[in-house]
Amino acid sequence: MSAGDSRPIGVFDSGVGGLTVVRALMERLPLESIIYFGDTARVPYGVKSVATIRQFTAQIVDYLLRQEVKLLIVACNTMAAVAARVIATRAHGLPTLDVIEAGSRAAVAVGKGGRIGVIGTPTTINSNAYARRIAELDPSARLYSQACPLFVPLVEEGWLDHPVTRLTAQEYLRPVLAEDIGSLVLGCTHYPLLKPLLRELVGGNVQLIDSALTTAELAALRLSDAGLAADGSEPATYRYVVTDVPLRFQTIGERFLGRSLGEIERVDW
Ligand code: DGL
Repeated sequence: MSAGDSRPIGVFDSGVGGLTVVRALMERLPLESIIYFGDTARVPYGVKSVATIRQFTAQIVDYLLRQEVKLLIVACNTMAAVAARVIATRAHGLPTLDVIEAGSRAAVAVGKGGRIGVIGTPTTINSNAYARRIAELDPSARLYSQACPLFVPLVEEGWLDHPVTRLTAQEYLRPVLAEDIGSLVLGCTHYPLLKPLLRELVGGNVQLIDSALTTAELAALRLSDAGLAADGSEPATYRYVVTDVPLRFQTIGERFLGRSLGEIERVDW
């Protein structure tokens, strides 16, 4: 039996949103150290071109590899949607997992042949990444997707239950709810913060799939299968690395993380 592996998990996102995944990881895997990378200078990714997102993603993966992480978690749905191959190639066999894999698995686990709704940024939805993965896992599932470009700025503004957000959500959800879906995948880092509002709007018959929670579950499984889990002999540490001056990250980030962030580093590429 090998000793625990105290190397950190590398979690990355286009900005602050991936802290929803970090929050779920801290709760599910309290012994694990984490390095979080948020590309705050270049966020949002969800409206950028595929080529640009791939180039940025490659830089971030290379940076985290230099920090000697033991597992890479792609917390950003947009990066997972269009840069999965870039990540796998650069990771050179290091275990990786992403929110799309975790969310898709959880959605098909709700029931075979399910009617599944997916919401996300325009780039995520246009990539059809959820549709492809869900079809592989359950070819009989039916998928209904909807891009929700206004959700990211509304959440960052802190308008989690504001009338404008409510109206916007009603508008976005109308077409997917008309399809009698059984589950709705929150396919963007920011959407878990809208859960109370979305729960109210979708009603009790639709299961909300929070990819932050499902990613933490999948990470726990991956670490134990690969014999990479920490054993608690060293205290868990958390580092937050961003690409822009950390002021806004600090204010908004604490809302996403549900606790104070402590020291934030600005990247030295
Ligand atoms: N992190 C992105 C995602 O999960 C949302 C923010 C952005 O557009 O960069 O898709």
